[in-house]
Amino acid sequence: MTIKKNQFKNILIQNIDPSPFQKRKYFDEDKLKDLAASIDNEGLIEPIIIRPKNDRYELIAGERRLRAIRTYTAFKTIQARIIDVDDLQARRISAAENLQREDFSAIESIEAIVEIIDAHLIEDDEYAAMGQTPENRLNVLFGKLHSIQNSLDRQSKVPKSGRLLLHKFVQQLEKIFQTLPKRLEWKSFYVHDFPLVREICDDIRKISLENQLNKSQIKAISEIKKTSQQAYQHIVNNTQTSETQKNENKNQSEKSASIVSLKDMSAREIKQAAEKIIKNEIKAKQNLKRSVLDLKLTAKKIVMLRLGIPVDRIAKRLHISQRTIVECSDIIESVRLDLKNEMSVPETAQKNGLPEPLIWHIALENMTDQERFKALNWGLITWDHWYWNDLDYRFGDDWPGRIPAQLIAHTLFYYTRQGQLVFDPMAGGGVVPDVCLAFHRRCWSFDLSDRKDKRPEIEVYQWKAKGMKWPVNSKEKPDLIFFDPPYFKKMASHYSDDSISNLSKDSYLAFFKSFLKLAFNHSKPTTRLAFLNADWRNYQGVPVIDEDERNSILISIYTQIISDAGWKITQYIDCPMSSQRFHPGIVSQMQKKRILGVVRRTLIIARKR
Ligand SMILES: C[S@@+](CC[C@H](N)C(=O)[O-])C[C@H]1O[C@@H](n2cnc3c(N)ncnc32)[C@H](O)[C@@H]1O
Repeated sequence: MTIKKNQFKNILIQNIDPSPFQKRKYFDEDKLKDLAASIDNEGLIEPIIIRPKNDRYELIAGERRLRAIRTYTAFKTIQARIIDVDDLQARRISAAENLQREDFSAIESIEAIVEIIDAHLIEDDEYAAMGQTPENRLNVLFGKLHSIQNSLDRQSKVPKSGRLLLHKFVQQLEKIFQTLPKRLEWKSFYVHDFPLVREICDDIRKISLENQLNKSQIKAISEIKKTSQQAYQHIVNNTQTSETQKNENKNQSEKSASIVSLKDMSAREIKQAAEKIIKNEIKAKQNLKRSVLDLKLTAKKIVMLRLGIPVDRIAKRLHISQRTIVECSDIIESVRLDLKNEMSVPETAQKNGLPEPLIWHIALENMTDQERFKALNWGLITWDHWYWNDLDYRFGDDWPGRIPAQLIAHTLFYYTRQGQLVFDPMAGGGVVPDVCLAFHRRCWSFDLSDRKDKRPEIEVYQWKAKGMKWPVNSKEKPDLIFFDPPYFKKMASHYSDDSISNLSKDSYLAFFKSFLKLAFNHSKPTTRLAFLNADWRNYQGVPVIDEDERNSILISIYTQIISDAGWKITQYIDCPMSSQRFHPGIVSQMQKKRILGVVRRTLIIARKR
């Protein structure tokens, strides 16, 4: 083929190869169709630019026009200007032409600027040696210039070579930036725009192009991807991308009304949607009721040792010799490794046959209490009203009267330190020992119900009103006694016959008198008592005005008993009964009859000295 250069000519489309310098990969097909229709009607106003190469032609500028004609018209030829340029010149022309496009997305504009700067600087050996790709080279150059400029601004010492580098490249950069369609400073480009192309991954790039997202939207999506894969997938799959929108029948107005287009969401809305998903994700994990498995002997030993239960009591509880009570360090190491490999806590627990709270114990080791709150996704309340909407099912078993783990965590946070000893005389579902594991407190817990395979750490003990004894013969006294007894008759039917909830009002109160005195005698001067209880009023079916107060046990009565036993009350903390709300049907009945229910619960804190 004989090729004449620097001339306008109709060229066979099939003889034109794509430009190797064309960065643009995404073209809006609707817009290409529109362009093709206008070329069909009015002809090609601006010819494409090509250069001869290996007996054929190579495109330099005009990719959109060429695509539109090739795909959507019957033309076999296209008007082209043939120029004779080398690779670098071709690259520069291609980059400059790209920048003139008005339908560029944010990402494409940044990429085009990178391309144009690189094409201008690449002949400089010092610059060319800075990296393999345009992004790498510019990253190094910008990084150096930025830090030199900052040092100068701070009036710090800058070596002569640094000043020279700045002088040489800043002038060139400023010149290039002056030719851009929009005014831009190189520094602002480096700080705000460049990171988007430097850090963006392929899928976000694709989504950004398909949806023509702006910079803030791209930043929001990228941040979400780093924080939560699930939220990212959810946002991407459940918002309609421009492409899917087009592929669907456009008349499906009801359908598109329910799915928001990603493009139409502001960066803020994208972030808010993600936050909601992340919160739900965490909540779902917290609400997953754990199946409490029978533990193997090794697991039982680790749990009991980590809770600081003395070896003689472990031996007695597990019916084994004291000599065999050592911790299996291989399991702990295996847990650490699994967690390091980003295995989730429930998965790690299942794989190693250990209870989840023990995995938390290992996962959170060496953290401060505040860091533990954060890791467990709990807020830390700094006032005396502790309310949570729901239980956290990661701690404690399904148990009547189970309390929120956050309540224990707050009590531990305010009244104990890591390593200290907590005593739980009526441990029930074991929330206290579980949270003690996560917060690295030792814990001795007791209950009359025996679950030696699932809860070996809860030692079996029945507190008897008459001749009440302390269950352990230890010199060590607790730092905190967390006492969560059954609230008089409230759950009577749920606990065993021996439960104090079956006692008459007088015996129930007598029990507390004995217990609180005994606890006082087995405490040290610094021991704190945390006593959780609620007003007992027989409000059900009775208008509040007709209630017989002789049947009530109000918190004030417990307060009196606690004080009589020698304790000094220091705080009252409101802990509403979050898990037992009134059903709307019942509420309307209560309203009709003027019944006043009880949701208030009080944590009374006292100290010995
Ligand atoms: C309100 S529950 C404790 C719930 C526990 N804090 C939790 O969150 O799972 C009270 C517990 O006291 C136990 N209990 C009642 N009377 C007892 C007694 N005389 N001696 C030992 N435990 C008793 C019951 O078995 C029950 O598990």
